[in-house]
Amino acid sequence: MDKYLHKYTPFFTVLALSGLLFLLWNIISLESWNCQTASTFYQLQNSIQSVLKTSDFFPAIEFNYSFCSHLGQEPSVEEAREEHFLLKSIVWHEPSTLGLSLGQSSDPAQSFYTIQDTGELQVGGQLVVNVHMHNFLGQPKKHGGDFLVARLHTPELAAGVAGHVYDYNNGDYSIFFPLLWAGVVQVELIMIHSSEAVVVLKRLREEQSDRVFFKSLFRSGYLSETTLCNLCLPLNQQPLCNYTDPQTGEPWFCFKPKMLDCDSRINHSKGGYKKHLLTSYESQFFQSGVNIKMPIHSSGVDNVTVLPASQVQTKSTHLEFTPSGFYYQGLWRPLRGATMRQFNSSSLISQCLRGKMVYMYGDSTVRQWYEYLITHVPELKELNFHSPKNVGPYMAVDVNHNTVLRYRCHGPPIRFTSVSSAEMHYISNELDGLQGGPDTVIVISIWSHFSTFPVQVYIRRLRHIRRAVLRLLNREPGTLVLIRTANLQKLDPESSLFNSDWFSQQLDAVLRAMFKGLNVELVDAWEMTLAHHHPHQLHPPPDIISNMVNFILSHVCPVRRKRRRL
Ligand SMILES: *[C@@H]1O[C@H](CO)[C@@H](O)[C@H](O)[C@H]1NC(C)=O
Ligand SMILES: *[C@@H]1O[C@H](CO)[C@@H](O)[C@H](O)[C@H]1NC(C)=O
Ligand SMILES: *[C@@H]1O[C@H](CO)[C@@H](O)[C@H](O)[C@H]1NC(C)=O
Ligand SMILES: *[C@@H]1O[C@H](CO)[C@@H](O)[C@H](O)[C@H]1NC(C)=O
Ligand SMILES: *[C@@H]1O[C@H](CO)[C@@H](O)[C@H](O)[C@H]1NC(C)=O
Repeated sequence: MDKYLHKYTPFFTVLALSGLLFLLWNIISLESWNCQTASTFYQLQNSIQSVLKTSDFFPAIEFNYSFCSHLGQEPSVEEAREEHFLLKSIVWHEPSTLGLSLGQSSDPAQSFYTIQDTGELQVGGQLVVNVHMHNFLGQPKKHGGDFLVARLHTPELAAGVAGHVYDYNNGDYSIFFPLLWAGVVQVELIMIHSSEAVVVLKRLREEQSDRVFFKSLFRSGYLSETTLCNLCLPLNQQPLCNYTDPQTGEPWFCFKPKMLDCDSRINHSKGGYKKHLLTSYESQFFQSGVNIKMPIHSSGVDNVTVLPASQVQTKSTHLEFTPSGFYYQGLWRPLRGATMRQFNSSSLISQCLRGKMVYMYGDSTVRQWYEYLITHVPELKELNFHSPKNVGPYMAVDVNHNTVLRYRCHGPPIRFTSVSSAEMHYISNELDGLQGGPDTVIVISIWSHFSTFPVQVYIRRLRHIRRAVLRLLNREPGTLVLIRTANLQKLDPESSLFNSDWFSQQLDAVLRAMFKGLNVELVDAWEMTLAHHHPHQLHPPPDIISNMVNFILSHVCPVRRKRRRL
């Protein structure tokens, strides 16, 4: 037997050695695979970057929303009716003829307004301003659709209020301002985009819905790959990973990695912004200093004196527009809802938040409130979970006052850098996991990351959130729910194509309509940024944030201990 074994020893040695070699070869090839994956990743990265120069990479991915609309759940008859109504309510006037030259397009420098003479003006009354749009050739415009915003203000009093724009669709517009304080008031009128530019934005919204693109990292052991992701991807090009949310039916897809399976998704992040979206004809309507966010001046006076309300009001004025509030001495004064209180010390805030659980969900504009609270209330200690900066989720606790404050971002299409796939939660599912009650405060802000998609996508998302809010209020009617509206922001030729205030305004109108009449408070960030003297910014400055937080706290801790309408 021994002899027999000895005879075969060299054979076994060779066998063992070849086994070892095979193992080594495998390890090396795995590593080189990994290199290959990495290089595939870089190729993809390069092709994404090359989009910055050429647009070779993306036209291959034809995005057509009308086919994507079937990817989500079919809306019910009731939902389809509501969607139809909402879309109809935000229809925008179009130029009567398309393809007008730049010369024939709206020129804010040659357009002007006049203040309508209505005799004596006093607090409680209304100021009407008439706008006449002209083109670059100096001729009056014959159609509407220019995107105008206006405010009335008194710099000395740090007072300001938003105006309401009415489009006659013939080149003329009226702006209505309520008169809310006495003094010299000045009109400020801004053309955000010409009607010709809005036509382009509409086209982008429907045809270039993937102009912001996303990516995910897939990893398993040594292997990793990165692929493109979006709400909708072409079905016929490459296998897809389907991440449609089982609870809501919200669609989300990534291209399937070549070597890894769909379960190996690690994280999600913004991929980038497509370039060369406009023809040279279209880009004429997006010129800084010419036709983006430009003032329109008065042909005469731009200010009037408002007298205090007279004791004997002869007849009460019919107001065309009641804003949600106005600034006076830098402080926001809401015209409906709770009386505003000033929480201008940390002890006032922490007393208000005693025993409360505050949940903030959404984009970076709600995160600003979380950050305001943790910086202004030293007792509110942030717990460190090593969450990625600016992404979260975050949690802060005040043990002495029994307060918990949390922030979590909304689900896809969130444009953050690197959200773990385990943290990609939809707001509606989060709300379904909360008990709620009089000590629970929910704050939601979801708008900015939807601006590149057709409005139907936003309506669907809000429908799911609204359903979850209604379920929560049904469980616990005392739960306080606040929703932040969109706000105005700084725009240049490029950012206009992705984040224009025109997109935000359309989404905002839908949001307001969908939550109207529900026991939900709106934080009117639109008016709070429009009425303020500070230049528009995606992330409003501290002066505005403090007013927003005071508004929220005024609802958490109202002056009179009367519960809100239940
Ligand atoms: C999108 O697809 C629909 C149906 O397949 C088609 O009718 C429509 O013309 C397409 N639109 C564009 C812009 O390609
Ligand atoms: C994705 O998954 C959802 C739910 O499982 C399903 O209804 C839908 O048809 C799938 N979509 C595609 C394109 O496979
Ligand atoms: C109001 O307008 C008049 C006439 O244009 C101007 O002289 C005056 O300086 C303005 N007042 C203020 C406070 O801006
Ligand atoms: C806080 O607000 C109150 C009135 O609301 C005011 O009297 C007080 O001066 C303010 N304190 C600070 C530090 O601003
Ligand atoms: C995704 O996750 C990986 C591994 O955790 C990390 O290195 C990377 O920075 C994350 N972000 C992106 C954008 O890939």
